[in-house]
Amino acid sequence: MELSEALAFDPADPAFLSDPYPTLGRLREAAPVFYDPGRDRWFVTRHEDVRSCLRDRRLGRNFRHVMEPEEIGVPPLDPRWDSFWASERWSLLWLEPPDHTRIRKLVAAAFTPRSVEALRGPANELARELLAPLAERGETELLYDFAQPYSIAVICRMLGVPLDRHRDLLDWSHRMVKMYEFDVPEEAAAAANRAAGEFREYVEELIRDRQARPRDDMVTALVEARVDGERLSDDQIVSTVIVLLNAGHEATVNTLGNGTLAFARNPDQWRRVRTDDVPPAQAVEEMIRFDPPLQLFERWVLADDFTLADTPIPKGAKLALLFGAANRDPRVFELPNEFDVGRPNASQHIGFGGGIHVCIGAPLARIELEASVDALRELWGDVALAEEPRRTGAFVIWGLEGLRLGRV
Ligand code: HEM
Repeated sequence: MELSEALAFDPADPAFLSDPYPTLGRLREAAPVFYDPGRDRWFVTRHEDVRSCLRDRRLGRNFRHVMEPEEIGVPPLDPRWDSFWASERWSLLWLEPPDHTRIRKLVAAAFTPRSVEALRGPANELARELLAPLAERGETELLYDFAQPYSIAVICRMLGVPLDRHRDLLDWSHRMVKMYEFDVPEEAAAAANRAAGEFREYVEELIRDRQARPRDDMVTALVEARVDGERLSDDQIVSTVIVLLNAGHEATVNTLGNGTLAFARNPDQWRRVRTDDVPPAQAVEEMIRFDPPLQLFERWVLADDFTLADTPIPKGAKLALLFGAANRDPRVFELPNEFDVGRPNASQHIGFGGGIHVCIGAPLARIELEASVDALRELWGDVALAEEPRRTGAFVIWGLEGLRLGRV
């Protein structure tokens, strides 16, 4: 195969989306990094390089703090989607130091190991409470009936956001995250923009409420926080609450869907968890490694001297880090295409990122996933598909449309 042929790939192709791993494997073995002129991105495929890019301060999730868009030929943000950009403006995922450092510090103060660990008991109870009636019935759509309400309840509890609008929260989030895909159709962008506007209004109301009636929760903590004597602006609080709510369930729900599907296809591995040969906490790491819920993150090159795997990459270029390819790199994981819940080094996966943007919710996600797997093995029993699940059609936010389970 010619090198150019080995490096051809279309993330929108349904054949690719039905099982991306053979293609990701081919790309990874053909080159550690390659430029795709069609998408004007440099794709990074191997574990070592993805890992080092995540930690490299010559790269950033944003470039606007050091360069003008025109300087590097990037079109300005489309003003039609102003509400969406306003919600991104102060998101941790949009910021670089020093703004990122300030806001991350405030958020980290709420995500101390102690406060997250305090959620373990309630997370375990809630998992059982939600799953018990579904297990009794013997059939379920696991994402809609369990993973979504479960995960949104846990993050809402942490933030102090009431649960009465939880379907709205899920809907806003689902529409907004479509903006992170390649090639966003206009209707999807318009829907994301409307969702961001409605979400903002909702969070502004919450802020007003907590200003009037402070409580012991994270929204109040953000409202009352002072950095160098100054309080956060409402815009900063809104973006922070939105990114926490959205990031706080999308990936966790998709990990449970992708991982449970892997168990359904590998009953011997589920048996190992059910018989406690492998504890749920260890199995969770392999679930994230084997079929990660986030397949790709991007970085801008901010410096003139950036080189990756002996390839110089110009300032202003965009890198796309392929997490799914890195997580199956045979240089790190033995027999990487096998789902092996006892894999000793599964936790070396790239799933939670690394460097300054490393997932701040990882300890919480681990608690939720462990509690879910534990409840499933205890209350559900054998995992059998009631029908073949479909993928959502998105690549970056990688998940299933739904996962119908039945009894064996
Ligand atoms: C299995 C579940 C999860 C996975 C796989 C995951 C993955 C990630 C990854 C890869 C990043 C880094 C992105 C980058 O470097 O460009 C990230 C960042 C982030 N995650 Fe998670 N996440 C999960 C669950 C959560 C949860 C439960 C929360 C709840 C608070 C959360 C909140 C965040 C936030 C706020 C950031 C941005 C941090 C920053 O930019 O400083 N995530 N996540």
